[in-house]
Amino acid sequence: VARIYFDHNATTPLHPAARAAMVEFLDAFGNPSSLHAEGRRARDAVEHARDRVAALVGATRDEVVFTSGGTEANNLALAGLGRGGRVVATAVEHPSLDGARERAHVDGEGRVDRDELRRLAAGAALVSVQLANHETGVLQDLAAVVAVARRAGARVHTDAVQAAGKIAVDMRALDVDALSLSAHKLGGPKGVGALVVREGIDVGPLLVGGHQERERRPGTENVVGIVGFGAAAAAVERQSAELRDRFEAGAIALGARVHGAGAARVPTTSNVAFAGVDGELLMQALDLEGVAVSTGAACSSGSLEPSPVIIALGAGNPREAVRVSLGRGNTRDEIDRVLALLPSLLTRIRNA
Ligand SMILES: Cc1ncc(COP(=O)(O)O)c(C=O)c1O
Repeated sequence: VARIYFDHNATTPLHPAARAAMVEFLDAFGNPSSLHAEGRRARDAVEHARDRVAALVGATRDEVVFTSGGTEANNLALAGLGRGGRVVATAVEHPSLDGARERAHVDGEGRVDRDELRRLAAGAALVSVQLANHETGVLQDLAAVVAVARRAGARVHTDAVQAAGKIAVDMRALDVDALSLSAHKLGGPKGVGALVVREGIDVGPLLVGGHQERERRPGTENVVGIVGFGAAAAAVERQSAELRDRFEAGAIALGARVHGAGAARVPTTSNVAFAGVDGELLMQALDLEGVAVSTGAACSSGSLEPSPVIIALGAGNPREAVRVSLGRGNTRDEIDRVLALLPSLLTRIRNA
């Protein structure tokens, strides 16, 4: 039987439109900085993709700085917008924001403590708060975060890597100064992303090199990757919560608690815990049955440490957390098959 892939927050399969656009470009080898026809063809492709990525987040093309992914975009935001000053973030950010030393706590649902954020933001250069959490899907109230940052005179960045493609993201409506994107979370290839920086705001380069990306990110552009990113951005479809809700109803009937269930969330992420069941063991048991889920961010699993995000919620045993993240191609039937597998796996693990 076909495997069931419920780990779309780790990465999601390449969208057919992205694949087709990339294949078409594999042999178009021109350097976008070259002024001849080969170079101009590559430049046109990069700029077309830039328009498509900009459109996904309500930005203009000049605001898009292509990077090697979400990790680099976040690092560029900290270094470029933090300007050597204090950077304030939350306890539940992706590890690529670990450079932000001051962290506001979150409540039991994963929402940032606004009073603490306000205290920390005083005198800070940058406030960076994620839009959607990678493990729970919990959405932060960015309007409140922006208000806090503006009052403190700080710039605002949001890591929108896990939000873009799942909910509508509009840089101007959010009123942030910059946001991070990663192509492989929304149907594009790995190794490409963007920091979208509001016009008029300087962001210095992290690397030393050429003049690419209007001096904000040197290095010959990843043309094929950028082309795939653009096609994936243009192909993003609205997501519904139907499958997530179906899964959670079934899991709750089996005794699960759902992390962040009381907060606004993206419609496709569910983080559940079954009392007395180690999440790692459940993940492995499901894998043997042909089902891919995870126990936390892909980059921190394997460390055997429980997820810092779930620890930050301060509720229950963080080792019990299992993340089910849904995406393109998942079906009701797959949800039902996983729910049907769970009772015997839970019993087996509890009795081991
Ligand atoms: C919230 C969040 N930010 C940043 C990243 C990093 O993106 P990338 O894998 O493109 O470096 C990820 C993905 O792991 C993520 O989930």
